[in-house]
Amino acid sequence: MNNIYTHTSENMQKAAAVIQNGGLVAFPTETVYGLGANVYNADAVASIFAAKQRPHFDPLISHIADIDFLKEYAATDERVFALAKRFWPGPLTFVLNRIEENPSIDLACSGLRTLTVRMPNHQIALDLIRRSGVPIVAPSANKYQSVSPTTAQHVADGLGDKIDMILDGGACKVGVESTIIDLTGKNIVMLRAGGTAKEDIEDFLGEKVLLSEGNPTLPTAPGQMLRHYAPRNTLRINVTLPEKDEYYIGFGSYNGDLNLSPTGNLKEAAANLFAYLRLADTGAEYGKIAVAPVPTDGLGLAINDRLKRAAYK
Ligand code: TXA
Ligand code: MG
Repeated sequence: MNNIYTHTSENMQKAAAVIQNGGLVAFPTETVYGLGANVYNADAVASIFAAKQRPHFDPLISHIADIDFLKEYAATDERVFALAKRFWPGPLTFVLNRIEENPSIDLACSGLRTLTVRMPNHQIALDLIRRSGVPIVAPSANKYQSVSPTTAQHVADGLGDKIDMILDGGACKVGVESTIIDLTGKNIVMLRAGGTAKEDIEDFLGEKVLLSEGNPTLPTAPGQMLRHYAPRNTLRINVTLPEKDEYYIGFGSYNGDLNLSPTGNLKEAAANLFAYLRLADTGAEYGKIAVAPVPTDGLGLAINDRLKRAAYK
């Protein structure tokens, strides 16, 4: 079955109709491909959880195409709008308090009093949201806990038969999911490292962003599962001397079967990460993958987060 569609006006109109009628459309964003549905249609949202085999306690991100829409949707303040104007469209997701009692979005929010929202930096995603006329909830378009998709073919390989349409936008430029920050409290707390560097947010605001991981007194994202993004093969990280029977993913001067970025560029490494984990899964003759050390600054924080969870047994 081929349900991959190119970005023509006719296909976009068709995709918007699928969203409006409660179907599922996979679409490209700058981070990874999303599996999209109309946020207000509880049946459609339920079918996202079913397609991914994702537990219902793990809420979804709403994608919007217009900053002004935020006011109708969530509790906002000056800080929220300042961050939105600086970082949207882009790989930064906000956790905000919900305002209206709108039970139809309960499922998308897993019943929490907060919601997550972002504006993706991708023409096809924005076009789809505008034509659909509703926020589109979308988790990454892969089976629960497996490697996120960065091409339309990755989506088709994992979930093709469960999706009405897959819109093709080529390879995702950022390659790791959005950074998630909780804006409901006084301090900003990062719940997931991602495509927006922590340092960039701190420089803009002139204040420290706290990391939720490892601090039991701070809130954590329901999706901070220890095992996630996992390839089928076993994975070792921070490896400088791979075993003979390991498929080696290098970085910088550590060369291997593949190299995330021979020049040590973290943006390039992030963009290659998930595609290389997939290649390693097919290429690893003995079922073992090893990955070279990657620095933890900038996008390196997100890369190390994904690798740690992928390696978790
Ligand atoms: O880049 C991205 O963010 C991609 C693209 C498609 O936009 N989406 C994505 O969605 O990564 P997903 O579902 O794979 O990850 C969303 C994360 C989950 O870990 C979930 O637990 C967390 O966001 N989350 C959602 N709502 C939340 C909330 N109200 N409070 C805390 N965490 C929340
Ligand atoms: Mg995901």
